[in-house]
Amino acid sequence: MIRLTSQITVLKTCVILSLLLFLFNQGCNSLCGKETEENSNIASYAADIHVVFTGEENGYLEPCGCSEKQLGGFSKRHTLINHLREKDDNLLLLSLGDLTGKVGRQDEIKMETAFESLDLMGYAAHNLGEKDLEMGTDLLGYLSQISNVDLLSSNIVFTAEVLGIKQYVIKEIKTEDTTLSVGILGIVSPELIDSAYQDMEIIDPVVSLTPLLSDLRDKTDILILLSHAEMEESIVIAEACPELDLIISGHLVDRPDLYREKVINTYVIPVGEKGKYVGEITLSPQQKQTGEDEYFNRIPPVIEITPLDERFADSPDIAMLLKIYQQRLADEELLAQVFKSDLPSNLTFIANNDCAACHNKIFKHWEGTGHASAYETLVKAEHEYDPECVECHVIGLNYFTGFETMESTPELKGVGCESCHGAGSDHKETQSSDYGRVSVEICEICHNDEHSSNFEFNDYWQKIKHPREEE
Ligand code: HEC
Ligand code: HEC
Ligand code: HEC
Ligand code: HEC
Repeated sequence: MIRLTSQITVLKTCVILSLLLFLFNQGCNSLCGKETEENSNIASYAADIHVVFTGEENGYLEPCGCSEKQLGGFSKRHTLINHLREKDDNLLLLSLGDLTGKVGRQDEIKMETAFESLDLMGYAAHNLGEKDLEMGTDLLGYLSQISNVDLLSSNIVFTAEVLGIKQYVIKEIKTEDTTLSVGILGIVSPELIDSAYQDMEIIDPVVSLTPLLSDLRDKTDILILLSHAEMEESIVIAEACPELDLIISGHLVDRPDLYREKVINTYVIPVGEKGKYVGEITLSPQQKQTGEDEYFNRIPPVIEITPLDERFADSPDIAMLLKIYQQRLADEELLAQVFKSDLPSNLTFIANNDCAACHNKIFKHWEGTGHASAYETLVKAEHEYDPECVECHVIGLNYFTGFETMESTPELKGVGCESCHGAGSDHKETQSSDYGRVSVEICEICHNDEHSSNFEFNDYWQKIKHPREEE
């Protein structure tokens, strides 16, 4: 109890501190002119480096379109990156890790699509997160071979041969006056790994980083760590590894625009979740007093976090990759391979027409609601072969006797009577009044935060309320 309270206090302090820091930074930004003027007196200045960072997509390649105002998606991200590139051709694009959210064939195809997208956008490196590791070393090795994006992990030792996964990456960035070397490292927190892997060993991050950093310190001007860990752990790493200029981090931070830390001279910045935001950091390295061509990072970086909202158009190039992704799901017939559970008590789905025989008035009314045409919505959106969408837009995809494909079970398309009332085979026989109680929780299986952020039972039910059968 005491521990809990003190943690909450620490958390509160952190939030307050980070808010202060945020406000402080905002203040700094507006004083920028003054700042550079002062700094120009100190040492020569090597031009800005712009680092763009994203991560923790967790399977969200694009917003589903279920609700308004959903943020994120690779298509919008590409448009933003193209826009940033107009200002600086040397953008350094970094990916923190966790492109996918689940495992299975669909996620393998998704991982390939996500990786092709990173490649197309010109990412320099992708750090391996715990979800990426679940894709297996064969797929990771393959991805490292087919793309220009470097796969990176500083704290995983692979016991089997995995082609092309690097311990660190050094990128040379040419500026007007000089060339700067940026060292990029990446870790995944052992705390996040719950699978037992035969072909890899995950080492303590600080233990693996220490020798690498002492080696890289002299070879590079700037050191960046992609830290696939919670902020708290990344802060510990920052304390142990002062050589790092920047740590990109942050599991479980849903508003990266409101939270950041500074540990001595290392900035620790979260990416947020589901690819909703894109971060951009402007570093302004300065020449060291030694007079040699060595630079270090003195000016506080300018950090900008951009929510990917409707201001950004979809990039046609990424839209094409996503279209191919949908086509692959269709070609491999993944809908027919969805894992199914048994319904309780040997029940089966009987479909809406059977209910209509006895509840005709309700049926006629239902036909006019959005639920009845929920499958057609997916056809319009060209996602009708995507199990991750179909799940909520039909009856019982995840159960035996539920929807399979349009060819085999067309009568179960759409959000039907049994999506809310449950499988009706027994009720059809008994006509029992015990059947089919619907609670708010049933609605919320589909109308959850992600897919229906405005859901409120009374409002929503009013819109689709059944007429009374006896009237
Ligand atoms: C967890 C369940 C769930 C999943 C998964 C889901 N949807 Fe939806 N979808 C909904 C709900 C609920 C609504 C209605 C939201 C509302 O009106 O508040 C909806 C609405 C929509 C709409 C808007 C319909 C309209 O006419 O306004 C589109 C388009 C859509 N979904 C497409 C998709 C696509 C594409 C996917 C897969 C990428 C998907 N959905 C996955 C539950 C889901
Ligand atoms: C053969 C006729 C018949 C069929 C088919 C049938 N029902 Fe019924 N249903 C009834 C009758 C009769 C009642 C009224 C029971 C009572 O009030 O005693 C009823 C009651 C209900 C109730 C209300 C229970 C309550 O009193 O709160 C729901 C919900 C319901 N049915 C849904 C369905 C659904 C969904 C289907 C299709 C899966 C379906 N019914 C199929 C005859 C049928
Ligand atoms: C199996 C998933 C699922 C369940 C369960 C579900 N919905 Fe929906 N709902 C959807 C989807 C999908 C849509 C979007 C339909 C479309 O337009 O394509 C939707 C749309 C709606 C809409 C807008 C439709 C219109 O005609 O304007 C309302 C209102 C709604 N749902 C209310 C509810 C309520 C209330 C419940 C619970 C009693 C519920 N839903 C349960 C999936 C579901
Ligand atoms: C979006 C979820 C949803 C869908 C789809 C749905 N229902 Fe219902 N139904 C409900 C809820 C919620 C209630 C409880 C209504 C209440 O408490 O007033 C209900 C009540 C009923 C009742 C009892 C009504 C009464 O007057 O006592 C029947 C019968 C019924 N539904 C049949 C159907 C049939 C038949 C279909 C398909 C044509 C269907 N429902 C589709 C959510 C749904």
